[in-house]
Amino acid sequence: MAVRPILKFPDPLLRQETVKVTEITDDIRSLVQDLADTMFAANGAGIAAVQVGAPERIYLVDAAVAGGHEEDPPVVFINPEIAWLSDETETKDEGCLSFPAIFVPIKRSLRARVRAMDLKGQVFEMEGEGLFARALQHEGDHLTGRLLIDFVGPLKKELIKRKLKRDALEAQDSDRP
Ligand code: NI
Repeated sequence: MAVRPILKFPDPLLRQETVKVTEITDDIRSLVQDLADTMFAANGAGIAAVQVGAPERIYLVDAAVAGGHEEDPPVVFINPEIAWLSDETETKDEGCLSFPAIFVPIKRSLRARVRAMDLKGQVFEMEGEGLFARALQHEGDHLTGRLLIDFVGPLKKELIKRKLKRDALEAQDSDRP
């Protein structure tokens, strides 16, 4: 079990260019295990590799969010691509582990289908609705460096930046002996 630190905005690594996974190596398997541990520890619905500073195109979605049982392992999406998005949309508040305690209303397709590879190297497709579809779109955005803050206007952008800066300073203060 290895929980990795989650990068918080404005860490520039959240905008780094991501790379396709060409082979499922032991390093990839251990990255995925760490992502699962990190997501679980942070109580997240999903996590992208880029959020722990890894450039690989990988994200995980919580099993319950993906329509499975709570105790199942998270669903792993490697080199995911959106195969289809419904025209029907839904606007709901969305959070992100890289923006603690920040919620932004975002309009998303109500249903989404993603094609990806699993840890055995098998290609699969999965379709989701509501929160699952939202997670697929949100995590997919991470792989192109698109973040929550890109969906808001200039005023709210400033507020978010200020709040995260204040939180980071407070965290620094409380770390001091
Ligand atoms: Ni996120």
